[in-house]
Amino acid sequence: MDPIENPFAPGAGSPPPELVGRDQIIEQVRILAERVKRGRSEKSVVLTGLRGVGKTVLLNRLGSVASELEYRVVQFEGLEDKAFLAILAPQLRKLLYDLDRMAGAGDKVRRGLAALKSLLSTFKVSVGEVGIGLDINASPGVADSGELEVDLPDLMQSIGEAAVERKTAVALLIDELQYLDSEELGALIVSMHRMQQKSLPLILVAAGLPTLPALAGEAKSYSERLLSYPELGPLSREDADKAVRDPVVEREGRIRADALDEIYRHTRGYPYFIQMWGYQSWNRASRFPIELGDVKAASTVSVQELDANFFRVRFGRLIPSEKRFLRGMAELGPGPHPTGSVADVLKMRSTSLGPVRASLLRKGMIYSPAHGQLAFTVPLFDEFMRRAIPDL
Ligand SMILES: Nc1ncnc2c1ncn2[C@@H]1O[C@H](COP(=O)(O)OP(=O)(O)O)[C@@H](O)[C@H]1O
Ligand SMILES: [Mg+2]
Repeated sequence: MDPIENPFAPGAGSPPPELVGRDQIIEQVRILAERVKRGRSEKSVVLTGLRGVGKTVLLNRLGSVASELEYRVVQFEGLEDKAFLAILAPQLRKLLYDLDRMAGAGDKVRRGLAALKSLLSTFKVSVGEVGIGLDINASPGVADSGELEVDLPDLMQSIGEAAVERKTAVALLIDELQYLDSEELGALIVSMHRMQQKSLPLILVAAGLPTLPALAGEAKSYSERLLSYPELGPLSREDADKAVRDPVVEREGRIRADALDEIYRHTRGYPYFIQMWGYQSWNRASRFPIELGDVKAASTVSVQELDANFFRVRFGRLIPSEKRFLRGMAELGPGPHPTGSVADVLKMRSTSLGPVRASLLRKGMIYSPAHGQLAFTVPLFDEFMRRAIPDL
């Protein structure tokens, strides 16, 4: 069918034609936002899931939900090799200047800017050439202890108070949260604790890999009382079919049941793969309904595309010993697997694999779903590894 009209959208962060199966989480965040706006307490939300399950597109949708409820949305992502403050500070500066432009009397916004100025000079963080206006003086005793866990909550409190003064609320949307180190994550959690204690209108909606609940728990043992971790997984069979069928039907098309079976057989309900198979099948079909044969032909291209992009970008960042470790894991199937079994397959001792294992965890290629267990962070990665390196 006409590729220009193709509704499917395979790609990191590409909005799907229909966001299927996420209504419950959207509702949870709507309730969170409404409650916090009214000064009631509610757990903030951290979406967790493997790569390609749809965390980023859902986070974007949740940002729109917050905007519709008149939240000021501050959105950014954690980066592997950049300090959290260096990413956060310019965003907070912009937020405070936005609040400053809103109607309202009082000095809380200027106090927020003063706290930010303190924090910037204490941690030697730059927010670019412009900095914070010369007419704002850093506030002695606020956000200047040099301890991130003390200073960030101070700053966030002053921002929460500024929002109250301007009769608004703030939503902090952070993607790739797993890239924060333990101290940064701890400081963020303490900040959210402060928001709750003071009933300030600031919510956190974040997303990241399934390691996050454990990382947050290690950083602050009480994090579970502050944060809820909805897990995004593959779509149910019904939702997976809907994600393919509805966009086709909406364009006056049809797709046969056995074609949907075949798509599901390959994608197992993972959103990224659904978009890929939907996209390629649409392009292959020369007329409606889309048939089994179209999907079969599309599968070859889909696998090639995924191998060349989705899987390959991650594979390309690995050194040979890491590739070998993952290939060993892949031999055992999709996982999770005990570290000991990986060592056995590779005919090595568990202890000697320690450093490779640690660097793969750090790079976010694998995670530990339970003590002593390892799993891939990318769905169907075992199959890819066996294609990429046929012989162990
Ligand atoms: N609920 C959904 N229904 C259908 N497709 C989805 C859904 N969520 C995400 N997708 C598709 O999956 C792909 C990956 O989404 P993305 O948000 O980048 O995943 P993640 O951030 O978890 O890696 C995109 O092509 C997107 O269009
Ligand atoms: Mg993402």
